This record gives sequence, structure tokens and C-alpha cells, in this order.
Amino acid sequence: MKDVSKLILEDGAVQNRSIYWDQDIYEQELEHIFARAWLFLAHESQLPNTGDFLTTRMGEDNVIVARQADGSIKAFINSCPHRGNVVCHADSGNAKAFTCAYHGWAFGLGGELVTVPLEHDAYYNAIERPRYAMHPVAKVESYKGLVFGTFDAGAPSLRDYLGDMAWYMDTFLDVPGGIELLGPPMKSILNCNWKVPTENFIADGYHVGWAHAAALKAIESPLSPLVGNQAYDVNTGLQVTTRGGHGFGVIWDAAAAIHPVGEAYAQWLAQRTPIMRERLGDWRAKFYNGHWDASIFPNCSFLYGTNTWKLWQPMGPHHIEVWTWTLVEKDMPDELKQMMVATNMMTFGTAGMLETDDGENMEQCTGSNRGWVTRRGKLFSGMGQVREGHHPELPGIVAKGIVCETSNRGFYRRWAQFMSGKSWDELAREPGNAADKREVA
Ligand code: FES
Ligand code: FE
Repeated sequence: MKDVSKLILEDGAVQNRSIYWDQDIYEQELEHIFARAWLFLAHESQLPNTGDFLTTRMGEDNVIVARQADGSIKAFINSCPHRGNVVCHADSGNAKAFTCAYHGWAFGLGGELVTVPLEHDAYYNAIERPRYAMHPVAKVESYKGLVFGTFDAGAPSLRDYLGDMAWYMDTFLDVPGGIELLGPPMKSILNCNWKVPTENFIADGYHVGWAHAAALKAIESPLSPLVGNQAYDVNTGLQVTTRGGHGFGVIWDAAAAIHPVGEAYAQWLAQRTPIMRERLGDWRAKFYNGHWDASIFPNCSFLYGTNTWKLWQPMGPHHIEVWTWTLVEKDMPDELKQMMVATNMMTFGTAGMLETDDGENMEQCTGSNRGWVTRRGKLFSGMGQVREGHHPELPGIVAKGIVCETSNRGFYRRWAQFMSGKSWDELAREPGNAADKREVA
């Protein structure tokens, strides 16, 4: 095992560049992070009926996720236990069974082996079917409709894994009627390491007025004054690392701001806010009206407000497949949902203006580390380190303003803990840091 203890330094604020490039570090990520952490699989609304299924990936393992006859959801590796063929080639659909194209073994909705051609004549009925079930994902759980899976049977519950991030996410998950993810997801390839977009979404309020200057001007959204960092009040909003490697930043009263025709959404928010205040209290009613950039450790990100939901699927250290859905409230009128989809496509879809701004930077941030000398250097995310701390009413480590890197450091502290192979017990006792002693107003 590679010694990873020196790759993340200064409380998460300094990263060794090799973590964006080296194949052996990537292999360790697959083992220590992607084979252990809870990974986003689907939203329950994508699998409403018995037999509904979709295929996705956990790390680089292909999996089938299927709705069972008893209403539960199971997931298993999409590779035939006979000779390893890929069993299901569809992105999604409804099935009674999954049949392998090579020799015809067929598997039930739970991955159990149900049919073996020539079972009597060739196997003399001696095949032990349970032994040849498709490899199950150890645990599949849902948090308010969001379905995650882990390969580690010893992992804590999904609710415990999400920790305080769940408290914050209730802001939009606890809406009457719940949420749905509109797809099928747009898919595209980016030549970047999977951590670069995760850290961008979790913490990077700094790039918005700069990297997206032209796009913000073109969209003519209420955020246009941020262009070139003009009119940027760095103290507006908050950034929070919730522990567990998750985190987000929020700009107050900006949920609808990126939508060029945002009035209908603004009206929707105004009408729902008293209900959310009643349900969740003043703070989360305020978060309900904010625009969030967020990541759930390790590779799921979202922008609440713009309402893009992202999965950064790793494909080696230098490539990812980006999957993009539109997050909407189920009770929204259809026209409003369609407007959300259109804005998402225009901004963070495959050809979206802001997606291409980010993509170019993310690819360069990865590719520059190809240089052997470059790769031995360090990168820095120390912004706001001296002003983060405890908030009297909000969980996690909180910093004032979204232009800081508090959540970035929280992500890398967690990454380092996972990579050094700590047990779940040790992970649960996340060590404190200087921020624990500081109060933030
Ligand atoms: Fe699937 Fe043989 S590889 S049935
Ligand atoms: Fe961006």
C-alpha cells in the first residue's frame, strides 16, 4: 500500500499534485474509497414499478439497480458469474429477468440465478445455483428518495454516513411531495481527475465571477453583476463542511438567480417558503431560498437553485464520465419543471455555457500534472482558514461567505482518512481541528 500520509497537509489545505495523476493512488482510491463509501445510485422516482431497473457504476464496477417485487431496491454487479460477460447492456428499462448473451444464464430481479441452459444434460443438475448469483452490493438504502449503495457490509447506515449533510439537505428533500430527478441523464466525458469537479462544486465560490464572467453576462441573470468579481460581497452567504467530507456553499436569496426567466420559480419559492418554515424552522427556510453549490463525499455533486444533479464517474485517474440530471420538486407545475430542465441544459448540461467554462479549467488542472516535475509539487486551498469555526445554531464547521475553501479542506481531510485505510470506527471519531475552538457569527 502506498504511503499516503504526506499527500494532504496543513489540515487539508495543501495537497500533493500526484493525487490528480498517479495510477497507484487512483487504484488505492478504488479500493479504500469507492469500494467502501456510500455511493449515489439513483432517485427512487427513476424506479417506480416492480422490474424497473437502471445500470450505473460504483467506482469502475458496473452495477444493475432494480426494484424488487416487495418494493425494495437491490443492486448487484453487472457481470456474469459464469465467464464474466456483461449481462445488461441497457441504460434502463423494465425486466422480469436479466439473460446473459454468451451462454444464456438468466438472473432474477435480485441477481439470483434462475435459468441455466442444459442444466440437466451438461451439469447433471449438480450446479449449486445460490453460489452463482450475481455479486450483490452489500447495502442499498434510501434517504428521502435518494438511493445509495455500498460494497462494505460493515459501513454505518446511510443516515449516519450523511451526518449533518442530511440535516441541511432536508431543506429541499423535505418539501411536500418530495423531489424527483429528471433524466435520462446527459452524459459526457471530461479529461480530468474525479476530485477536481467534486472540489469545484463543494467549495469554489471563488471562480464564479471570473471563470464564468462571459456566461453570466450572456445569460443576463441577476448574478450578472458578479462578472469580473465586481459587486462581489464575499461575506454574503455561508460555506459549511459538515464533517464526513461533505459540504456546500450558499448565496442567500439567489435560488432563482441563474434562471434567465426566473419569475415563475421565484413565485414558487415564495409560495412554498411559509410551508418550509413551518416544517423545518427559520434557518432552513432561508437555505430553501439560497443557491447552493454542494458535494456529497466522494463523487456526487449538485447545485440547488440551478437544480443540476451530478455524478462524476471515475474512468482512471485522468478521465471521468459526467452524468447530469435536473432536480425538481415533484409538485412543481410541468411548465416550471421544463424551464428548470432548459436552464440546466443551457448552464450545466453537456454543452452548457458554465459546464464548458468549468470543463476546460478542470481538464487543465489535471493535465498539467503530466509533467514529472510539476507532479511533485503542491496545490493550496487555504482560503478562509482563519475565519471558519462553530456557528451557534448550525452544524458543521462554518465560514462566512462563499468565497473561501472551508469545504475543500473538509473534503481532503476525509479523503486522507479513507485513503489511509481507517476503520469505520476510527472514521466516526473524526479528529477536531483549530476551527473547533472558534465561534463564527
Ligand atoms: Fe454468462 Fe456464460 S458468461 S452465461
Ligand atoms: Fe463553475
